[in-house]
Amino acid sequence: MPISILTTILIIILTLLIVAVAISYYKSQKSECVLKPPSPWLKLPLIGHLHLLHGYEVPYQAFTELGRKYGNVVGLQLGQVKCVVVNEQKNIRETLVTRGSHFDYRPNFERYRRLFSGNKENSLAFCDWSKTQKIRRDMLKAYTFPRAFTNNYHSLDELITNCTQEMLQEFGENPLDLKPIFLRCCARIFLLHFCSRNFHMEADFLRMINNFDEVFFEVNQGYAADFLPFLMPLHKKKMQKLNEVTSEIRQFINDRVIGDKFQVYNPDLEHGDYLESLIGHVKKESIDWETALFALEDIIGGHSAVGNFLTKLFGYLVNEPEVQKKIQDEIDLTIGKERPISIYDRNQLVYIEATVFEAIRMISSPIVPRVANQTSSIGGYQIEKGTVIFLNNYNLSMSNDLWENPEKFCPERFVKNGKLYKPDYFLPFGGGRRSCMGYKLVQLVSFGILGSVMQNFDVKPVKNERYQVQAGSLALGKDSFKFMLEQRKR
Ligand code: HEM
Repeated sequence: MPISILTTILIIILTLLIVAVAISYYKSQKSECVLKPPSPWLKLPLIGHLHLLHGYEVPYQAFTELGRKYGNVVGLQLGQVKCVVVNEQKNIRETLVTRGSHFDYRPNFERYRRLFSGNKENSLAFCDWSKTQKIRRDMLKAYTFPRAFTNNYHSLDELITNCTQEMLQEFGENPLDLKPIFLRCCARIFLLHFCSRNFHMEADFLRMINNFDEVFFEVNQGYAADFLPFLMPLHKKKMQKLNEVTSEIRQFINDRVIGDKFQVYNPDLEHGDYLESLIGHVKKESIDWETALFALEDIIGGHSAVGNFLTKLFGYLVNEPEVQKKIQDEIDLTIGKERPISIYDRNQLVYIEATVFEAIRMISSPIVPRVANQTSSIGGYQIEKGTVIFLNNYNLSMSNDLWENPEKFCPERFVKNGKLYKPDYFLPFGGGRRSCMGYKLVQLVSFGILGSVMQNFDVKPVKNERYQVQAGSLALGKDSFKFMLEQRKR
């Protein structure tokens, strides 16, 4: 009997051992079998697949082409950086939302580090996800997503209307260079809204606008040096210039925007604006002063995005007299020509909102690349920790499969049964925990400015001016389009 007990015990131990070995073998087999994203075979020494992005008007067109050849998730080696290109709504949503917490870091390009005092974590848009970023985003919400009928919304409404009406007074001699005018109007709105500071034509204010515009242009460019850092010395001069520009911005923010607000801050009073809210957080030590300063600059810098965007929007509109007429008919019918447009009119002026969406669609600016903070998967393919992820938003905005005549400027596609309609696959502001913090302001400010200009003016082309709006980036160079603005008859 004792022998048979021993045998039984031995058999059990042996069985357990066999099962354990089998499980570990199965696991190792499984991880070896994980599918890696397909990748183009021609990978050159040093540059890897960078050569495949060459020769396209918009670099993201290359991603669409790669998607067609290799599938919706494509692995690329761009110089020294391991990347993945993600196409199609389902996979893009999976990256941004379903598995958003796996892909909430941003690339660590040398250029970003240099732009933000050697530490990209100073930047709202280029930092990795962190507790500090959560605090920064939560703090911003009340000001970037003001809810209708709140005090913040009322005051925003008032100042958009006032700044826009004052801007219209400046529409003097034609042809007009609209970009600096829009940038100034947006900068005034942003500084009033976030910091309760009012500027007009002061020289240092105008210089600040140019400086922000220069930084905005720079961060919207793609460089081979991002993937081949040894090329950075080629950009030495530009980086030096940008250093000067960013220190000038810092000086303006310190001297003219913050002034004595830090000293006179009273913790017993409700925060009057975003700047006071930042100061409150610094005093409570939930963020440090350096972080607060960068967060303030980044958000004020949002005016460059709206100013550049509006200039591009008018670059489309100038060749679309029928769209202009439709906007004007809608305004004449609901608001008339006397009362200035208010953001409370948005529900009645759906076609203006649709025009803003249509320009955003046509511009198709990229979603800021993400980085995998852990090994995860997209579309069933394994994505290794540290991989840079490009989300092909250009394809979502311009695909023939999703839009009828995608090359045509047609705001009607965003109107359904008299209401603004936003298809699920329209994702110009990204999504998930790193989604754009400024999209509501883009909509509100653009609505106010576009509506007011259209209420009062027809926009016509200047003879021999070419209005070719470059897609794939919001940023415009310094010399942009000129326009003829003809006062409408009362
Ligand atoms: C037409 C204009 C704009 C477009 C198309 C746009 C688009 C985007 C996109 C695609 C992202 C990345 C989202 C993601 O990764 O999922 C982003 C991030 C961001 N945007 Fe915008 N944006 C615009 C204007 C603005 C403005 C005016 C502001 C500021 C008021 C702003 C503030 C931000 C910030 C702070 C982030 C980073 C958020 C984070 O990483 O946590 N944006 N934007």
